[in-house]
Amino acid sequence: MLKSAVLLLFVSAVSFVSATSVLDADEQAVNGEGLAAWAKIYEIVSHPRCANCHVADGRPMWSGPSYGEARVHGMNVGGDPNLLFGNVGMLCSTCHMAENSSAYHGPPGAEVWHLPPADMAWWDKSSSHICAQLKDPARNGNRSLEDIETHIREDALVAWGWAPGPGREPAPYSAAQAASFVADWAANGAPCPVSE
Ligand code: HEC
Ligand code: HEC
Repeated sequence: MLKSAVLLLFVSAVSFVSATSVLDADEQAVNGEGLAAWAKIYEIVSHPRCANCHVADGRPMWSGPSYGEARVHGMNVGGDPNLLFGNVGMLCSTCHMAENSSAYHGPPGAEVWHLPPADMAWWDKSSSHICAQLKDPARNGNRSLEDIETHIREDALVAWGWAPGPGREPAPYSAAQAASFVADWAANGAPCPVSE
């Protein structure tokens, strides 16, 4: 009786071990490279120059060293996640022109400044959340990973993150490097961290 209980314990311990090591060594190496590429992408997308616009509630953020403590955009801007271009009578483009203001704390600018849809929110979201969002066509503007790579390489609002105007810290790396991290991530199976 005791013997069979011990045997049962042993058998279940063995099956537990084999169930957890589902990845073989090659797969683990690929996964590791993919996760390393993702870590660099996360460094970029969670940076204030990107996350300040990628918000869930229609309220852009003012955060990063030039702003002091993080807070929602002043002057009662936004607030409705359906009004991505601002409110009638106070569009984003009332203040945000096609070019950066040259004044310190003047409005930054790029071609047609506006908010992404709430599904694309990154502000205050975890690495695993953003990772899953970025590769989900239902929440990323129906894009393939190749489309994401192209968007990062070519979009004017993304490009602004590396040329943000006086006093603002640019996003890390460059648009070209960011696009190449996405290509690496995709080539290695686009893995996401389990929770972070
Ligand atoms: C001025 C606001 C703004 C800033 C700043 C901004 N974005 Fe976006 N982003 C948008 C808008 C608007 C869209 C939606 C475009 C669409 O779907 O056509 C978007 C969509 C995206 C997408 C594709 C969809 C998805 O899943 O999110 C990526 C990738 C992206 N942005 C990357 C970046 C990166 C990287 C930065 C910083 C270097 C950045 N963005 C900064 C406004 C912004
Ligand atoms: C009344 C003028 C005004 C309007 C309207 C306005 N903004 Fe701004 N915005 C500014 C100014 C000024 C700053 C820079 C503040 C500073 O540097 O201290 C700014 C900064 C920002 C930033 C921070 C960028 C960064 O990372 O440094 C974001 C994001 C932003 N605005 C998004 C928007 C969006 C989206 C809209 C429309 C929904 C909008 N703004 C409407 C004046 C405005």
